[in-house]
Parts: sequence; C-alpha cells; structure tokens
Amino acid sequence: MSLLLSPTNVGGLSLNNRVVMSPMCMYEVKKEDGILTPFHFAHYGMRAISKVGLIITEATAVDPDGRITKYDLGLWNDEQAKHFKKLVDWIHYLGGKIGVQLNHAGRKAADAIHPVAPSAIAYSRDYRTPNELTIEQIHQIVNDFGTAAKHANNAGVDVIDIHGAHGYLLNQFLSAVTNHRQDEYGGSLAKRYRIVHEVIQAIKQNYQGPLWIRLSLTDYDDSGLENTMDDWKQVGKWMEADGINLIDASTGGLLNKAPNFPVHDGYQTSFATKLKQSLQIPVSTVGLLDNPGLSEYILQNHQADLIFEGRALLRNTNWLSDAAKELHDHHFKPFNDSYQRGQK
Ligand SMILES: Cc1cc2nc3c(=O)[nH]c(=O)nc-3n(C[C@H](O)[C@H](O)[C@H](O)COP(=O)(O)O)c2cc1C
Repeated sequence: MSLLLSPTNVGGLSLNNRVVMSPMCMYEVKKEDGILTPFHFAHYGMRAISKVGLIITEATAVDPDGRITKYDLGLWNDEQAKHFKKLVDWIHYLGGKIGVQLNHAGRKAADAIHPVAPSAIAYSRDYRTPNELTIEQIHQIVNDFGTAAKHANNAGVDVIDIHGAHGYLLNQFLSAVTNHRQDEYGGSLAKRYRIVHEVIQAIKQNYQGPLWIRLSLTDYDDSGLENTMDDWKQVGKWMEADGINLIDASTGGLLNKAPNFPVHDGYQTSFATKLKQSLQIPVSTVGLLDNPGLSEYILQNHQADLIFEGRALLRNTNWLSDAAKELHDHHFKPFNDSYQRGQK
C-alpha cells in the first residue's frame, strides 16, 4: 500500500489519502457577486468522486476589493455563505473533504478601483499603485477574515487555509520588499508578522477546526531584501505557537519574477523540507508533482507530509486511479462498483 494513497491523520484532520487538490482560481463567477455557480459544484464534485483526499477551494475573498479578479469567489456575505454550505454538504455527501482558502489580494487585486497594500508600491506597470492601508483599515481586514471564518464555520468546512503566499496581502506584509511601514505593522520581522497573528486570532474566535496557511518560501529575488529561510523558520515557529496546524509551502508570486533556476519536477519541495525540519507541525508540498512515484518518494523520505496537486488534477480528474496503477496500489478503490468496471 502506498503512503500517497493510504489514510492519514495530519494537520488536525483525518484524510483517506495524502492527495490534496491545490487551490486554483477558476474565474467562473461571471455575475461578479462572489457566489458559487453550478460550474463549481461540478468541478469540485468531480474531484470528490475521483477520491481526492481533500479539496481546497480556489482563493476566496474576504472583501470585494480583496478579490484577485471580479470573477473570484467571496465569503463576505450571507448569500455567499448560504451557497458555500451547499457546496460543503455536496462534497461531504460524495464522501470527500473540503477546505476553503481565504484571501485578500492587496495590491494584486486587479479589478479593484482603489487597491490597498501595506505600502504604496505597485506590483508591476500593469497594476494600479495601491493606497497604503491605515491602521483602521488593517483592523477592518482582520475583522473581515474573522467574518469569513464564521461563514466557513457555519458551512462546516473541514479546513481553513489562509492565503499567505503568492504575493497577496499577507505575503505583502511579511516581506520587507513590499512592506515599508514604520508603524507597528512594519519594520522588524515580528512587526511584519503582526497582521498574520491577528488574522489567526480573528479566525480562531469564530472557527476551532484545522487551520492551515500557505506561504511562499522564496521570492526568487536577489536584492538581498527577501526573507531568508531562517526568517521563514522563525515565522513558522510563531505560527506553530499561534495554533496553525499545517504550513502549505509554496514559492514565488510576490514579485514579477520566475524561479532563478531551471524549473523541474518537485522544484518547490526542498523549500518545504527545510521548513519541516525545524518545525513540529506538518508541512505540505506543491509544484510539478504530477509523477506519483516522485510524490511517493517525497512522503517515504519525510520530505513533506501531504502532496498538493494543481494542474495535474485539472488535466486528469482520474489522477488518483492512474496513480494507483502506477504505484501498484491495489488497495485504492474507485468511487463505486460502476467506476471500478472502468479500471483495466
Ligand atoms: C489556474 C490556476 C489557478 C491558481 N489559483 C490559485 C489560488 O487561488 N490559490 C493558490 O494558493 N494557488 C493558486 N494556484 C497555484 C496552485 O495552487 C499550485 O500551487 C501551482 O499550480 C503549482 O502546482 P502544480 O504544478 O501541481 O500545478 C493556481 C494555479 C493555477 C494553474
């Protein structure tokens, strides 16, 4: 029996296997109201039927101006929450588990007329220069995360995954490259972490389930200003103390820069492993892990605790069945007997 496809208890959650559907924006909310559409029920439902261990929804905004685009999901109002509960029930009915990724896009809110950020520095020439957040606005955003967590809690989600990566608002605060503030939310690493600490507390007031966070462990920057792995280890320790149950380790997105080495299968895993070695809590990995043998190798060698699959699951909803064949894992059972008949 493979580790990849066998049950586990990790990050505060029991799962049927170690494959997680990585959060991926679908930009399918054509009405621009942040509400789930039939597309989402089919899209996520299919992954539950194909037995993905945990589905994490695409980045779901806590505030209208926190959307990456106006076609994103939102969880700031009751109507959105009502539909979200239906999705959670739907996935549970199909035997799956589902988490929500909560996000504020900050300066990368492409459709916001007045985007906000820790400092007034634009992401690139194609993006508006954001307004520097006032202290009151920061408190409001912290509250918005708390409100979204209340909706997620009422919906019965299995996990909340805070989006602290890919250059969105919390990542912008954590980095000295994008956070030039002189007040209590900027300066030292501890001060840059303050908003994340407050967001965690605000979420925990309304939700006591497993709480995960996605981080970008490098910005592929050579200015000397980016957080080092030692900084991320310190941040990880604070998160552990704050009650985070798993760090979902990714990279990049803060700056308009690609990896500064040839991208290869599992190219982000060494970052996850370095963090994992200095923490008690589990760390997951993501990024070009389409090859099930590589994913199994990572798990067998304790390089990470869970495998997130993104594009592989967009291409192939039956990725787990195919992985079972490749790994000669005869314990993996498709959704029902009819699907079993599709197995050669
Ligand atoms: C279409 C698309 C949308 C994405 N949207 C998100 C997102 O909403 N939140 C997030 O954390 N990452 C997002 N990502 C990044 C993926 O979750 C994943 O980290 C990345 O694709 C690398 O994994 P992969 O090689 O398995 O695809 C997105 C990726 C794709 C391809």
